[in-house]
Amino acid sequence: MASYLLRKTIRRLPGVVIKAVPKPRPEITEGFQSRQKTGDICKEKGYRSCLIVTDQTLFSLDYHEMIVKSLEENGISAAVFHDIASEPTAGIVEAGEAAAIACGAECVIALGGGSVLDAAKMIASGLRLHRLRAKSLLHKFLYVPNKSVPMISVPSTAGTGAEITVGAVVKKSDDGAKGSTVIVGLNIVHVILDSELTIHAPQSVTAACGIDALSHGLEGVVASVHVPEADMRESMECVKLVLEHLPIVLKTPDCEASRLAMSRAALYGGNAINEQLAGYVHAFAHAIGAQYHIPHGNAIALSLLPVMRFQKEACSQKLKEVAVYCGLAQDADEPGAAADKLMDALDSLIAACQFPDRGEFILQEDYRMLIKRITDDSINYSAPVVLGRKDISRLLDVINGRKENADVHGG
Ligand SMILES: [Fe+2]
Repeated sequence: MASYLLRKTIRRLPGVVIKAVPKPRPEITEGFQSRQKTGDICKEKGYRSCLIVTDQTLFSLDYHEMIVKSLEENGISAAVFHDIASEPTAGIVEAGEAAAIACGAECVIALGGGSVLDAAKMIASGLRLHRLRAKSLLHKFLYVPNKSVPMISVPSTAGTGAEITVGAVVKKSDDGAKGSTVIVGLNIVHVILDSELTIHAPQSVTAACGIDALSHGLEGVVASVHVPEADMRESMECVKLVLEHLPIVLKTPDCEASRLAMSRAALYGGNAINEQLAGYVHAFAHAIGAQYHIPHGNAIALSLLPVMRFQKEACSQKLKEVAVYCGLAQDADEPGAAADKLMDALDSLIAACQFPDRGEFILQEDYRMLIKRITDDSINYSAPVVLGRKDISRLLDVINGRKENADVHGG
C-alpha cells in the first residue's frame, strides 16, 4: 500500500512541477510573409539590435532577408548566426552567445524548426547567465534569474510547438546524448506564424510534423493534469485543425488557409506540452526513435494509435469530448463508441500520410532496454494510466505489427 501511494505521488509530481514553471505568454502575429512585420514589432518594444538565429538550409534560401530588411527599415541593426545544426550542441550555443554579444543583441529572433528554436532559447538564456556552460545542460531545469533575453519565435515548420514551449533539447557535445532542459524564466515575447515558411517542406516532413502536433494536443487532452477551460479548448482545437487541414496541405501544399491552420495547430500543441505535458505516445516514440533512428514525427505516428487505443477505457469520456468537438461523434453517443470514431479518424489520417512501412523493426533482444527507457521517460509526463512492463511489452508487439490492438487492453 505504501509503495502504491508513493508511486501515485511520484506520478503526480510532473504535473505539480510544470504548473509552477512560469510560461511565456507571447503576442501572436500570423499570416503569409508576416515575418516582414518583425521590424515593427521590435521597434515597438524598443530593441536597437537583434541577432537572427537560423540554420544553413534556411539561410541559403534567404528566408532571413525579409526579417533583416524590416529591421533595417526600422533603424534596428541586425546580425545573422546561421550555424545551428539539426542536433545543436553546447558548443554551437556558446558560438551563438558570442555572436549575440558581438552585436549587442537586445533580442534573439529564432527562424527555423525545433532545433533552431531550442538552440535560440539556450542562447537567450545563456546571455543572462553570462555564458551557458555545457554542464548546465546536464540539469533538468535551468533557472534564469530576471528572465532570458527577449526572444521572438518564427517557426519554419508546423509541428514541434517549440516556438512556445519552455523545454529545449541540446546535446552536451557532438558525441554526447541529447538532454532535455526546462528553462525557468524563458522570455518568448512574440511568435510570428508566417506559414509561407512551411510551404516548401517535403510532404513527408509536413506529414510527420502534423501528426506530432496532433499528438501534443491529444496527449494534452487526456493528461491527468487539471487545466483551465481555455487550455483544454486549445488542445482540442489543435486536434481538430490537424484532422481537417493536414489532408488538405498534403494534397495542396500551397493552400494558404490550411498552412496557417497547421501553424496554429502546432502553436496550440506547444501550449498543451507547456500546460498538460505529453504521455506514453511520446515515451514510446522517444525510445524507438532513438534506438532505430526514426524521426520524431514518424515515431509518433507509429506509437499514436496503439497507445491511444490501449488507454481508451481510462479516458473514453475525454476522447468523446474531442470526437464531439471535431464533429466526429454526437453528444448522445456512448463514450466508448465516440472514442472509436476518433480512433478511426486518426487511423485514416495516418494512412493518408503514407509513412514508410517498416515491417518488424523492433528486435526481440531490445525489448528489455526499451521497456526500461519507456518507463523511465514516462515519469516526466502526465499520462492517464500507468503502464507495467507487460503492458509496454504488448504495446511494442502492436507497434511492431506482431499483435493487433484488439488483443491488448488497458484501462
Ligand atoms: Fe512531439
